[in-house]
Amino acid sequence: MQGLLRTARLEDATKTYTLLDLPQNWAENPGLVVSHILDVLERTRISKDDGLASADWEYAFADSILHVPRVYPARDRSKDEPEVEVLLQSFHQPGRALVWDKGVALEKPGFVDYELPTKAIADNMVEIETRAFSVDPPNSLGGRDEDVVMYEAAGVVTRLGQYALTNGLQVGDAVCGVVRGPFASRAQTAWTSIAKIPDGLSFSDAASVPMAYAAAYHALVRVARLQKGESVLILHPVDSQDMRAALAVARHTGAYLFFAAATEAEAQLLVDRYHVPTDHVLLSRGGSSNITAAVMEKTNSKGVNVVMAGPTIPASSASLLRSACGSVARFGRLVEIGCGGLGKGVNLAALAARCATYACVDVLQLAEHDDQAMKEGLEASLRILSDGYLPPATVTQFPASHLDRALRHIRQQQRQGGHAGKVIIAPQYGESVKVLPRAQPPPLEDGNATYLVVGGVSGLGGAIALWMASRGAKNVVVLSRNARGHRQAAAVAEEAAAKGCRLQFLDGDVSTEESLVALLAQISATLPPIRGVVHAASVLDVSAIVSQKIGMLADILT
Ligand SMILES: NC(=O)c1ccc[n+]([C@@H]2O[C@H](COP(=O)([O-])OP(=O)(O)OC[C@H]3O[C@@H](n4cnc5c(N)ncnc54)[C@H](OP(=O)(O)O)[C@@H]3O)[C@@H](O)[C@H]2O)c1
Repeated sequence: MQGLLRTARLEDATKTYTLLDLPQNWAENPGLVVSHILDVLERTRISKDDGLASADWEYAFADSILHVPRVYPARDRSKDEPEVEVLLQSFHQPGRALVWDKGVALEKPGFVDYELPTKAIADNMVEIETRAFSVDPPNSLGGRDEDVVMYEAAGVVTRLGQYALTNGLQVGDAVCGVVRGPFASRAQTAWTSIAKIPDGLSFSDAASVPMAYAAAYHALVRVARLQKGESVLILHPVDSQDMRAALAVARHTGAYLFFAAATEAEAQLLVDRYHVPTDHVLLSRGGSSNITAAVMEKTNSKGVNVVMAGPTIPASSASLLRSACGSVARFGRLVEIGCGGLGKGVNLAALAARCATYACVDVLQLAEHDDQAMKEGLEASLRILSDGYLPPATVTQFPASHLDRALRHIRQQQRQGGHAGKVIIAPQYGESVKVLPRAQPPPLEDGNATYLVVGGVSGLGGAIALWMASRGAKNVVVLSRNARGHRQAAAVAEEAAAKGCRLQFLDGDVSTEESLVALLAQISATLPPIRGVVHAASVLDVSAIVSQKIGMLADILT
């Protein structure tokens, strides 16, 4: 059930799936159980409203306590272990990358050392030495911050593949864009996800622009097809990088710009700092006023051709967005950065009534799945940025050695319901950071131990069994329904034997208690005690859970 719900959660992030495990005797204290159920529902509701994909969705009620699962690296606590030795090392080192570990492999967050692959870089990839990177917002295709897969960075090209070379990039170029992987002193990305930094832009400023600017260009120029003389209403938080990017790109097209401001102070800031005419600033009062009435008054009751919104979304922005849907002109376009709007404020009926279009733009999906559009958006928007004049963005900078503090700063701002603005890590020249040695997997050499791998011979199970053998395991059992008859069984056992490991295959069905008990009895009668179990059995039937037939589900779950 746990696995099923985890999969469902990954397949459809708009739904909330929460698991609360109750003990069999829960009815003995129904009042307490009900209070925990309400508590869990409230926690998950708040987490969902805050867009916290990384929140706790799994709970177990036992011994009158509500538990949440946490995984800690295995270690032998019976021995006195020396403290992990933290070394101070230079952030930038030739031929070596330092990679941020969030404390999963290690017990605390820190940089770990990472040997760069020596083999040639892939044709479409570029490696950069990062001189600045943005840690906010946390970005991944799955939207969960423990899984950061892409982030904004600026740096100097150190290696590049053939496509990048033939398309005008070279070693030593100062570039910025969206890079892949964990925060690192050297990062890799597709050549289409970076562009040269315009003259006069520092690494730190350059690391704060790629996503907002590429998204604004793609949304306004490609998706909304904003034309000279058309009108656009920008709903981004005032003074945010998204607002600045939308303003720069929309002004460049020659459109008339309207802005929503939540307070008088924001309205004044738009006038003073961004030279927006006073009558183009519409007071939304935190989403409570009717923005449509204000737009209609300014546009002869026609509405604006384009509304640009997101990435949202506190409740106030959602109600603002809902209200703004009525201000889109006939055949107009509402484009939202991010994909949170449909559930949180977009009034499709109001748009449909005026033959208007609703579209989402997610710059990470663009980088991943439409490299040409990403390249165009990044390059064109950086040209617009360097041609026009905007006062510098408000950026909070931390040195690389304070990355942990920067992440805490963002979390604190979020808890207080605010937004930390752009938070940039800018390693200082010659800066040293704390580097933690990479955690070693536990040793497996104990001759008085058996390791049980449940799963097939040729898939992950077989690979894990051989990995165990190569790490010194002496007794390994691989168990699956047809393990012994598998055509690769003999070869795998032979390979393990060459490493000094007795690898045995047993036929059995782990989904049947009777079969499993018999197999365990057989193992304990003939082999040393089981000291480790890896579950690698699976039945593959690929389709999203919502489109599965009951028979398919039954096959998988039984
Ligand atoms: N391969 C990857 O790259 C990868 C990556 C990430 C995660 N995973 C996950 O790792 C798991 C294993 O993947 P895989 O690629 O190794 O799959 P696989 O090649 O299909 O192996 C799974 C094996 O499980 C065995 N099995 C199925 N039902 C069983 C049961 N009731 N009792 C005992 N054994 C049973 C099957 O062998 P018999 O028919 O002989 O029973 C089957 O060969 C899956 O959950 C998969 O989603 C795989």
